[in-house]
Amino acid sequence: MTTGKTGGTTGDTTNGATGDATGGATGNLRTLTITRPDDWHLHLRDGDLMAAVLPWTTRCFARAVVMPNLRPPVTTAAAAAAYYERILDALHPDVDFTPLMTLYLTDTMKPAEIERAKAQGLVVAAKLYPAGATTNADAGVTDLARARPLLEALAACGMPLLVHGEVTDPAVDVFDREAVFIERHLRPLVESMPDLKVVLEHVTTRQAVAFVEQGPPTLAATITAHHLLLNRGAMFQGGLNPHFYCLPVLKREEHRLALVAAATGGSPKFFLGTDSAPHPRAAKEAACGCAGIFSAPVAIEAYAAVFEQAGALDRLEGFCGRHGPLFYGLPFNRGTLTLERRACSVPSTVPDGAAGDLVPLAAGSSLRWSVVAPPAGLIRGD
Ligand code: NCD
Ligand code: ZN
Repeated sequence: MTTGKTGGTTGDTTNGATGDATGGATGNLRTLTITRPDDWHLHLRDGDLMAAVLPWTTRCFARAVVMPNLRPPVTTAAAAAAYYERILDALHPDVDFTPLMTLYLTDTMKPAEIERAKAQGLVVAAKLYPAGATTNADAGVTDLARARPLLEALAACGMPLLVHGEVTDPAVDVFDREAVFIERHLRPLVESMPDLKVVLEHVTTRQAVAFVEQGPPTLAATITAHHLLLNRGAMFQGGLNPHFYCLPVLKREEHRLALVAAATGGSPKFFLGTDSAPHPRAAKEAACGCAGIFSAPVAIEAYAAVFEQAGALDRLEGFCGRHGPLFYGLPFNRGTLTLERRACSVPSTVPDGAAGDLVPLAAGSSLRWSVVAPPAGLIRGD
């Protein structure tokens, strides 16, 4: 990572180990250059909405693990390839961006589908949605035991299992569903399949952090910007705020603090996954609003703010651009991204590609870091 100070002098460092960026001593730090980051958990949607949201991701991220919860879900290698082509078709021609595709596991999928996806080369992981756990998860897995042959196929070909880790049991309080999922399902799974790489997606609790930290090297987790920035109070501040509703739902402050410690602590088991999940404003501001926070327009700026607050800007690069590729066995990106310590104002809405709009995370507010010199010459909103 390269850091720059007031007056334009820059200091080259090895993997971010610089006095300027540690211990909260960031008073003079003006720019921060990191390996171009990746987003290891992203909802890109499809059609006009995809075309509208894609530039917000490609302005910063070189690659993204694209979630398969479309309608219908991406359950075959052929569907993943077709979705991949639609994403490439929607890209601005100058943009250098690689979608990393995923398969949506179902009760009826056969292991051969995983082998086909592996051979095809576009799919990097398979996503486990417990049936009904979240947006477009109705076709998910109803019983992990029945999915065992699929998990064995994943382990055999070295493809990670990405887990939405929440039980759907209505008797379990919504704030406890992640912690209960870990004890009921994930711990036994990880213990019984030591060869299976598992990413517990969008961790939200101190129990999840502890489980991942204590687990084998085959176990990792993604952390969203919104779970680092917000606790559950945000949903109820001054009234009911649907734009802070996501799944897994925001948790208490003690959990947010555990996530900040995990993200900024330097462990390679934790890496960036925005879970940016756009829903048109009308679908969020509704009697039964959709779960999902659209964070792509502010994601890297928000992570930078969290790392700065924690006095850990020197570790931002590892979290954003190193730990993910190491876990997935993919090369590091070669380009860089530069952030500047200059206020960036977040628009209150952005177009959704149809007649409506989207409300981004931190809408209408200002963040301390801005992206400069986007690598592909693409400016936000282009
Ligand atoms: C996601 C979506 O809208 O697709 N929603 C969310 O709240 N995160 C699905 C998911 O990742 O759970
Ligand atoms: Zn998600």
